[in-house]
Amino acid sequence: MTINEIRERYFSFFQSKQHTLIPAAPLVLEGDATTLFTSSGMQPLVPYLMGQPHPQGKRLVDSQPSIRVQDIEEVGDNRHTTFFEMLGNWSLGDYFKKEQLAFVWEFLTDPDKGLGLPKERLYVSLFKGDDSIPFDSESEKYWLELGVSKDHIFSYDAKKNWWSRSGTPDQMPVDEIGGTDSEIFFEFDSIAHDSAFGEKCHPNCDCGRFMEIGNSVFMQYQKIADGSLVEMSQKNVDFGGGLERMAAATNNDPDVFKIDVFRKIISSLENTTGKKYEEVLVQKNLRIIADHLRAAVFLLSYGVIPSNKAQGYVLRRLIRRSVVKMREIMGTTPSQDVFEASLKVVEEEYKKQYFSELSESFSVKPVSEEVLKFSKTLERGMKEFAKMDKVDGAKAFDMYQTYGFPLEIAIELLQQRGENLELEDFKIAFAKHQESSRTASAGSFKGGLADSSKSTTSLHTVTHLLHAGLFKVLGDKVMQKGSNITSERLRFDFTADQKLTDEQVSLVEEYVNQAIEKKLKVVRMEMDKNKAIEMGAKAFFGQKYPDIVSVYQVGEGDDIVSLEICGGPHVESLSEIHGHVKIVKQEALGNGVRRIYAKILPFGS
Ligand code: ALA
Repeated sequence: MTINEIRERYFSFFQSKQHTLIPAAPLVLEGDATTLFTSSGMQPLVPYLMGQPHPQGKRLVDSQPSIRVQDIEEVGDNRHTTFFEMLGNWSLGDYFKKEQLAFVWEFLTDPDKGLGLPKERLYVSLFKGDDSIPFDSESEKYWLELGVSKDHIFSYDAKKNWWSRSGTPDQMPVDEIGGTDSEIFFEFDSIAHDSAFGEKCHPNCDCGRFMEIGNSVFMQYQKIADGSLVEMSQKNVDFGGGLERMAAATNNDPDVFKIDVFRKIISSLENTTGKKYEEVLVQKNLRIIADHLRAAVFLLSYGVIPSNKAQGYVLRRLIRRSVVKMREIMGTTPSQDVFEASLKVVEEEYKKQYFSELSESFSVKPVSEEVLKFSKTLERGMKEFAKMDKVDGAKAFDMYQTYGFPLEIAIELLQQRGENLELEDFKIAFAKHQESSRTASAGSFKGGLADSSKSTTSLHTVTHLLHAGLFKVLGDKVMQKGSNITSERLRFDFTADQKLTDEQVSLVEEYVNQAIEKKLKVVRMEMDKNKAIEMGAKAFFGQKYPDIVSVYQVGEGDDIVSLEICGGPHVESLSEIHGHVKIVKQEALGNGVRRIYAKILPFGS
């Protein structure tokens, strides 16, 4: 089935069950500093799940375009995409488990009204139970009543069968809502289980035999200030089904890039390149380009243009990666208009559903301009490269930073020259760069420092101490969310349920000031990322790090007071900090994130 057919059937099916079709929420979110894109159907409906009456009633159906940029590196296998459509049906305090499981089962298996998937190929999962929430015996009962056999029902813990925007119950900030869920999987029986992934295959096995195609979330709990979960007075259903994955299931082929829309994009790319999707060295690149171009068209449709920040940066990255992959396929730098035909295919394919109201000004020109600009960069970098005798990691990084010259191309060129690139130096240089770019994006300078004066370096080290102190006093829920340093003060954002009490403030300050009084040494180490994490090094939540990272440790032996993955710079010893640290201000940033400001006050003040 085509995605347009499946979407239509889904809408009609749920309309026949008294659901009202609602339009998708915007994919691109403005004025939300925490997320750039809508990443699930639930996100825009939160107020209604929490009890605000929805103008369209209590039963809703929709399809929500979503983007998960964090999956960008995974794209290239047979199932990951950055952009996807999530089909959703919603009960806002109306029906619950029994009706939901029956609806979704009927939709997936009925050949006339739904997808007609063979029942024996469907498996389900449910929540296994823990200290606070019991085993979902209710869902089990309903699945059995629907005719799902016992050996097709599996239960898992909260990592798999709990859904909230932030993850498991522990990861949820105060006020967030969530619930247990029941996922449905399609079994591709053409794929044999690979024992490298475990002795026995099961729905959540990573061998590729199973693919999750839908998830019924029973959204009924809210986190409260003491960290516990309470049942909301309104019990909801949030069903999310991956449209592309459902299409793959109807094809009985686990490759989502073989569904109709991707076939069309890929076939236009095959025309442009003269290569075939089936070719081993080509397939992965074609998947990446097809995914990226599809996402790019959706971004363009919201008026996003390539730039250095926020959504514009994501678009730039999608285009640049596509150029690099195209170059790998074609062997030469692609021309400016190389993607035009494929972009038109995407536009055509989604026009009726999403782009019918696009203004005249919608155009794919920003892509061509970016391709042209980046191709020049790429070529210039290639020439520089040719001039160098021996390229080491540091040089390759320099090329990356100066010309935007991608590492993967550097490696490829060197291989052609019979050289290998020592990656360690590159990775270290890259780690430092990442540290600075993430704080740079918060509007500051290297590593969160406004300049590299002694005072800012000291405040950077103090930031690590405060981070450790907060962790000690408030517990392991504390995660860094941001940092910004000027020569006057530091600013630190972190997750916390509520304002620090006066006592907690003193305890954190004491932690930091005792370390300063002891004049502890600051040591920089380089190590494997996993080792650093195993040792308990703090990292910036949500940040991707290279395999080799630099780690700063304050103190030694039995007296280690801070360990953190970081690019520096830091003082070499706390004896260089001439003063004591004071938390001068606290703010709430909302969404469970707090901000503190701290200063170093001269001793005696
Ligand atoms: N909100 C649920 C999900 O994203 C359905 O999986």
